[in-house]
Amino acid sequence: MQFKTRTHNCGELREQNIGERVVLNGWVSTVRDLGGVMFLEVRDRYGITQAVFEPHIDANALHLAKHARSEFVVSIEGVVRKRPEGMDNPELETGFIDVLADTIVILNQAKTPPFPIKDEIDAHEDLRLKYRYLDLRRPEMQENLFLRHKMYLLVRQYLDQYGFTEVETPVLMKSTPEGARDFLVPSRLHKGRFYALPQSPQTYKQLLMVAGLDRYFQIVKCFRDEDLRADRQPEFTQIDIEMSFVDRDDVLNVMEGLIHKIYKDIKGIDIHLPLKRLSYEEAMERYGSDKPDLRFDLEMTTLNDLFRDSEFRVFKDTLDKKGIITGLLAPGCGEYTRNQLDVLTDFAKKLGAGGLIWIRVKQEGLDSPTMKFFTDNEKTGMIEKLGAKPGDLILILVGPKTKTLNQMGSLRLEMARRLELIKPDAEPKLLWVLDFPLFEWDEETKRYYAMHHPFTSPRIEDVQYMESDPGRVYARAYDLVLNGNEIAGGSIRIHNKELQQQMFNALGLTPEEAQVKFGFLMNAFEYGAPPHGGIAFGFDRLAMLLAGKSSIREVIAFPKTASGMSLMDESPSEVDEHQLKELHIKIR
Ligand code: AMO
Repeated sequence: MQFKTRTHNCGELREQNIGERVVLNGWVSTVRDLGGVMFLEVRDRYGITQAVFEPHIDANALHLAKHARSEFVVSIEGVVRKRPEGMDNPELETGFIDVLADTIVILNQAKTPPFPIKDEIDAHEDLRLKYRYLDLRRPEMQENLFLRHKMYLLVRQYLDQYGFTEVETPVLMKSTPEGARDFLVPSRLHKGRFYALPQSPQTYKQLLMVAGLDRYFQIVKCFRDEDLRADRQPEFTQIDIEMSFVDRDDVLNVMEGLIHKIYKDIKGIDIHLPLKRLSYEEAMERYGSDKPDLRFDLEMTTLNDLFRDSEFRVFKDTLDKKGIITGLLAPGCGEYTRNQLDVLTDFAKKLGAGGLIWIRVKQEGLDSPTMKFFTDNEKTGMIEKLGAKPGDLILILVGPKTKTLNQMGSLRLEMARRLELIKPDAEPKLLWVLDFPLFEWDEETKRYYAMHHPFTSPRIEDVQYMESDPGRVYARAYDLVLNGNEIAGGSIRIHNKELQQQMFNALGLTPEEAQVKFGFLMNAFEYGAPPHGGIAFGFDRLAMLLAGKSSIREVIAFPKTASGMSLMDESPSEVDEHQLKELHIKIR
């Protein structure tokens, strides 16, 4: 169809254009038919401009305009004029002018969209995902994509300035488990063999250090077949980074500069550097999380010392088993009713706690069914340690250390939510969590797992315990946390074959298994591997937080649902029998 291409976009006309003849192309956003006069708002990614059709300007154009409906694609031509007295719309940047149109060409028709194309709709997310191309037509979704684009540019610019080289690494690789489950791709040419999609380019970036690249980065897709949550997708993007001849603080410094630049250029916020640092132990004991949200205080207190000689069986058993007694003060909650306390107890039980000890702090003393088990010294000690005042509520959980601290951490977040402690305009709170244990014990499978990944270096002074007491070995690992979200994680790596072998050994791999799975890396370590370390940012999570959203799906153009489906193109889907045959696969 013949049409004139635009002279201006739909967001740029202002009063200084008054009198100009213009052509606009876009989608019909709203239609108002006042009988004699028609108003069409025309939208594109730059904004919205109002076009007016009047009979004395061009009766034919007015007649044609009456056929236009929401989301029709149109080309409109006319003259820019000042809006008549009282017709200004200050909510639009173009709201002081309109286009008195004498021509309209309908370039394409549109069915009525399943939800309105505007911000703040209440359509179900599944519907939005099925019609994602319409969802992405909404200005707020486009803003999210522009934000990502800006982030790509900033990241590349910053890292280039610091001497990093972007290198692409394979998407079809060897299955080298890093902690999650691999997505596998069957090989047609090699019957019975599979490629894996990278959980991250971890081994490649280390090999690039052996190759002498010195400073590598890549904005890269990673793939993990794991249970999904609001902040997890099966394919997601990382800013992946590796550096040679560095120690931990070199990596942290460069990354602090990066996050500072991102916040400054995107939000106009000057993040105070250096960032706060907490050890894993401290983060767990004070906030019940290895990704603590520091936008509010509400700190937990370990009470083991106070109850060292307690006769209370629950406490005694816990201490005998090297467990933990952790307390949380909920200020101003001392008037909670039994009903409210039952709800909190249920909350704790759902997290797996045996129960919740609650103590209401009154003017006349402590009020709780458990009070009879506490000595006077314990009572005053508790008030002192927690800084409790009349009108407050004390909550106590007991049990195995990590589990119980995590439960209290969740309760801490729940109390913050109830007390509305997180203000929408709160300053972003960033911190490093350091000194993670190298291993994590799994009760179910009765074995140790790498807390980060098997390439993370233990602290040199702890190497001696790798075999005898893996639980006391700390890692040279670090996580960056933003408002209670882990946005980056990394470590200084192992760079010699023997130590790497020892690590695999501790993880239960025989030397033969290690050779089959990771031989290529260990072989490389025999050809002059430099000391190196790195980190990876969760790009989508960072974008989500910068955009003020609570799901990473909001900042990904075509995300999957929580069950890993793409509702728009309906993947995963079945494939033809002959495709399977070629791949030597039979479905049972
Ligand atoms: P890690 O596994 O911690 O480290 O991942 C780095 C960051 O990626 C983000 N992330 C995710 N985002 C969305 N969906 C997911 N399923 C998902 N999984 C992780 C998180 C996380 O902090 N190779 C190492 C990095 C290194 O050691 O250098 C790695 O991948 O924000």
